[in-house]
Amino acid sequence: MDRIRIVGGRTLEGRIPISGAKNAALPLMIASLLTSETLTLENMPNLADVSMLLRILGHHGVDYSVDGRRPGEMPHASRTIHLSARAIVDTMAPYELVSKMRASFWVVAPLLARMGEAKVSLPGGCAIGTRPVDLLIMVLERLGASVEIEAGYVHARAQKGLRGAEIRFPKVTVGGTHTALMAASLAHGHTRIENAACEPEIVDLADCLNKMGAKIKGAGQTAIEIEGVGSLSGARHAVLPDRIEAGTYAMAVAMTGGDVLLEGASPALLQSALDAIEQAGAGVSVTNEGIRVRRNGAGLSPVDVTTAPFPGFPTDLQAQFMALMTVAKGCSRITETIFENRFMHVQELARFGAKIRLEGDIAFVEGVESLQGAPVMATDLRASVSLVIAALAAEGETVVNRVYHLDRGFEHLEEKLSRCGALVERLSNPG
Ligand code: UD1
Repeated sequence: MDRIRIVGGRTLEGRIPISGAKNAALPLMIASLLTSETLTLENMPNLADVSMLLRILGHHGVDYSVDGRRPGEMPHASRTIHLSARAIVDTMAPYELVSKMRASFWVVAPLLARMGEAKVSLPGGCAIGTRPVDLLIMVLERLGASVEIEAGYVHARAQKGLRGAEIRFPKVTVGGTHTALMAASLAHGHTRIENAACEPEIVDLADCLNKMGAKIKGAGQTAIEIEGVGSLSGARHAVLPDRIEAGTYAMAVAMTGGDVLLEGASPALLQSALDAIEQAGAGVSVTNEGIRVRRNGAGLSPVDVTTAPFPGFPTDLQAQFMALMTVAKGCSRITETIFENRFMHVQELARFGAKIRLEGDIAFVEGVESLQGAPVMATDLRASVSLVIAALAAEGETVVNRVYHLDRGFEHLEEKLSRCGALVERLSNPG
């Protein structure tokens, strides 16, 4: 299993190109199941989760091709992927595949909408809380499907097709909203979604579905209206920039000091995180190339944050912000409201000498003078990158174990950081 070795204490200077968003790429790829024509996705990040989902879609009958890199292009230049689900060969998604990636459960909506039937394994346990799928099942039932749960599988049927309906989410859910958008696009009649998630990745999926011929209005707001259509066509769509990757590197620069341009990052997608970084004492400015983050010498101020659905502070940046706060001059309070149990990074940050106390869904962080490098263990995607950020600022050497978590969501992390002066290397272990 690969590890990453980091020697901390260097400032970051230079440019970091921001990749296409993983959390938009995955539902967009799944949307290819809705049509027999080719869906071409540009600006696709090269990530383990994308490769895994290609395998899963292949199981359902999706043919795909990936455009090669042109001579002279940077290794992390974005890729274009063509997906064609001419014929669905299997409407069953087995446990072996779904358990590897939670988001693959979302195939249930397009399979059901196009084929009238889908049998998809429940995703099973997850490191960050129970993460149920009850609201996704509620969407399918509201749209007229009969759903049975048998031996760990969700078996949904709608032989006569789905029917538009009113769907009101009792809680904001990104996956639930993606499911409703995909299923309602091919349902008969009108659907209204209330209390929809407003995340930029929802808007990206709706934009792509509209290019495919769907009739969706209001994505990005809490009420979305969808007029079902008989079939969808192919389309070409570029994935939006990854706000979580941009926010992560912004926090890294705020922590180490330095001056970095996050190329292609869009400030509107992560305003609440940028506000918190600025309050902590880093300079944030917007240029026509992206977002520039810098900090010179001055210490960091403590800032309290509470995670919330978009446009609030993203839960996917909570661990990284906590790493930053471990060296602020004073105490900060970080409240997690989206996922229970999303504090696994706390124990690992403590190995660097961080002082953090947990009380329910609140972490009280008491800033320390400096962190010391240590061997640490990556536990989930966002938690792992918080350890990388801490290591960049810590004195001495850190080895991050189990980096496959990072490879799921951060494209060319070592290269991007090394090019800005960080001492980061991957130690590949055979076997
Ligand atoms: C997506 C993101 C993830 C992000 C999360 C919240 C992807 C691939 N993943 O995950 O990175 O952290 O949004 O921004 O895009 N819930 C239920 N029942 C359900 C579904 C969800 O109770 O049927 C709860 C969850 O347990 C959680 C909350 O709703 O407490 C929000 O979860 P949700 O927005 O659905 O997260 P995901 O779509 O799984």
